[in-house]
Amino acid sequence: MNQKPHVAVVGATGAVGIEMLKTLEKRNFPVGKLTLLASARSVGKKLKFRGEEFTVEELKKDAFKGVDIGLFSAGGSISKEFAPVAAQAGCVVVDNSSAFRMDDKVPLVIPEINAADVKWHKGIIANPNCTTAVTLMALYPLHQAFGVKRIFASSYQAVSGTGAKAIEELRRQVDEIVKGKQASKEVYPHQIAFNVLPHVDSFLPDGYTKEEMKMQNEGRKIMHHPTFRASVTCVRVPVYRAHSVAVSAEFEKPVTVEAAREVLRKAPGLQLIDNPGKNEYPLPLYLAEQYDCAVGRIRRDCAMDNGLAFWVSGDQLLKGAALNAVQIAEELLELNVENMERSSQKDGLLAAR
Ligand SMILES: NC(=O)c1ccc[n+]([C@@H]2O[C@H](COP(=O)([O-])OP(=O)(O)OC[C@H]3O[C@@H](n4cnc5c(N)ncnc54)[C@H](OP(=O)(O)O)[C@@H]3O)[C@@H](O)[C@H]2O)c1
Repeated sequence: MNQKPHVAVVGATGAVGIEMLKTLEKRNFPVGKLTLLASARSVGKKLKFRGEEFTVEELKKDAFKGVDIGLFSAGGSISKEFAPVAAQAGCVVVDNSSAFRMDDKVPLVIPEINAADVKWHKGIIANPNCTTAVTLMALYPLHQAFGVKRIFASSYQAVSGTGAKAIEELRRQVDEIVKGKQASKEVYPHQIAFNVLPHVDSFLPDGYTKEEMKMQNEGRKIMHHPTFRASVTCVRVPVYRAHSVAVSAEFEKPVTVEAAREVLRKAPGLQLIDNPGKNEYPLPLYLAEQYDCAVGRIRRDCAMDNGLAFWVSGDQLLKGAALNAVQIAEELLELNVENMERSSQKDGLLAAR
């Protein structure tokens, strides 16, 4: 792969796509060439990157010739249709949808946890579910220290997790209600403004939603922990940006609040904000647009042995999507350097013989 890769952003006009562009720019990712792809509705739209205007093109099967990295965030059906085509054309796809996350041939990666899994990709790498990503940023370091057995959790998920139309729905409903009008509904089955919906994603026959089961299924794969169990209730709240999760975790080993704080203080990509006496704890409002997630409200769980309760918040458009995807792309470039060094060492050895 080129060390100044040709990057295609698929779903560039969406809530995640826009963050993808900002993140590539902010992290100085060495984009050699940029292609922006979306639906036919967006053809001709201009988006800025590094002060330059780029025109959005229509996503078509021949769009990936010469593309090194494809950052996909256009929904599961688009990924299912186009990611294999892109991989076939030699592009490495980092996919934000749920289409390939549980596929045995596809690594599912949070770089702070299992960056090494990037190495065995076969053209597609999956980005985890956003609520799972935010939770694991705090849970995984605790797991390494104390061995997590199971968690009970409730999420407080921002509307931007549903995409650009849901952000607009909350704005519109607030405006309508303030003006004394009936709130109009397009995205969610119920009013989201001044309400909470215990319903994220579609329901499964056992009563959980698909989103709720992602924590256990994706958590097992990312942490390499096949017996991890998670019972989760996912709730949509009228917050624009950043998800929060209240977690009760049970561990194999005894755990104290001080020992947990010590572990979390050193965890990468995580801030410890835990000073209840000063009303200091993570708040989604202040974690919006931040790369790090934050953990606080750490206490012994009084209802289980070796239990710990905590609260974790993080910008799901970043750590749960765009930032994580760009971090994976950075891992790909590092891997490329390692491979080049290895092959030049091999060439050197052969030449010496
Ligand atoms: N939002 C989050 O926090 C989050 C977090 C993790 C993962 N994800 C995943 O990321 C994906 C995108 O989410 P989002 O929130 O960014 O949604 P969004 O705001 O609704 O954006 C969807 C994007 O997909 C494009 N698209 C839709 N239909 C298309 C088609 N037929 N061909 C080509 N492009 C098409 C849209 O283009 P147009 O503008 O032209 O319609 C737009 O750019 C989803 O799979 C979602 O599950 C989202």
